[in-house]
Amino acid sequence: MSLFSARQHLADATSVLVITGAGISAESGIPTFRGEGGLWKGFQAQDLATPQAFARDPKLVWEWYSWRRQICNEATPNAGHEALVHLEGRIERFLLTTQNVDGLHPRAGSRKLIEIHGCIDDARCTETGRVFPVEDGIWQDGVLLHPDGTQARPHILWFGENYWDGTLDVAHGFARKVDVCLVVGTSGMVYPPAALAVFAQRSGATLIEVNPRAGQVTPHADIWLQGPSGEVLPEIVG
Ligand code: OAD
Repeated sequence: MSLFSARQHLADATSVLVITGAGISAESGIPTFRGEGGLWKGFQAQDLATPQAFARDPKLVWEWYSWRRQICNEATPNAGHEALVHLEGRIERFLLTTQNVDGLHPRAGSRKLIEIHGCIDDARCTETGRVFPVEDGIWQDGVLLHPDGTQARPHILWFGENYWDGTLDVAHGFARKVDVCLVVGTSGMVYPPAALAVFAQRSGATLIEVNPRAGQVTPHADIWLQGPSGEVLPEIVG
């Protein structure tokens, strides 16, 4: 492990882009998607996380997201989330781009944050696109409605859907000029976030990865810190 080198790069940096995935919340008890015990081992994504699945059976889809929302709401941020809050506080130009919908980054205190796949605590009106907190909605036969009675869906990016306008543009614009790109707890199987890391590196950033196992980003990483983020991040964020 090049802990020392990673720590040094972060100590010298004035601009940092962080990209996180499900692995950063694993130590908070939230299941990841792939690998042993992953959500996509026990469930079929096409039955639950697509517009077609929602059109077919909105009640089933809401049931699944309500189950996940409960797990997320009962979890608490871990030392990895907290280390990133600390990093944000001392880096001049900072952006955290997360694929996670669990809300643990904002609950830990991250503010310069884009949740590119949405948030499990939010719903969206299917007609007007208005985003609102799930807890403000009205449940009717297992399906959530906007307070004005129109149908709502989870505010989550589903398979087959395009990223929302602007989200990736902001991240790309930022990635163009950063000293360090820190990638934490993602398999890199979902393409745009992994491509963002490589784009940042090609634009001049040092690419540091934190993950106990190798994934799609690892062959590109300048430094791979092979370990759990709850242990590694506090070590490198001085
Ligand atoms: P994955 O489940 O694909 O990958 C989780 C990653 O976390 C793996 O690389 C693990 O090795 C790593 N990991 C496990 N424990 C860890 C720990 N303690 N510390 C650090 N890393 C650890 O999850 P994502 O890459 O986030 O999309 O998946 C990307 C997207 O695919 C998700 O946002 C979701 C899913 O389909 C949508 O729902 C749109």
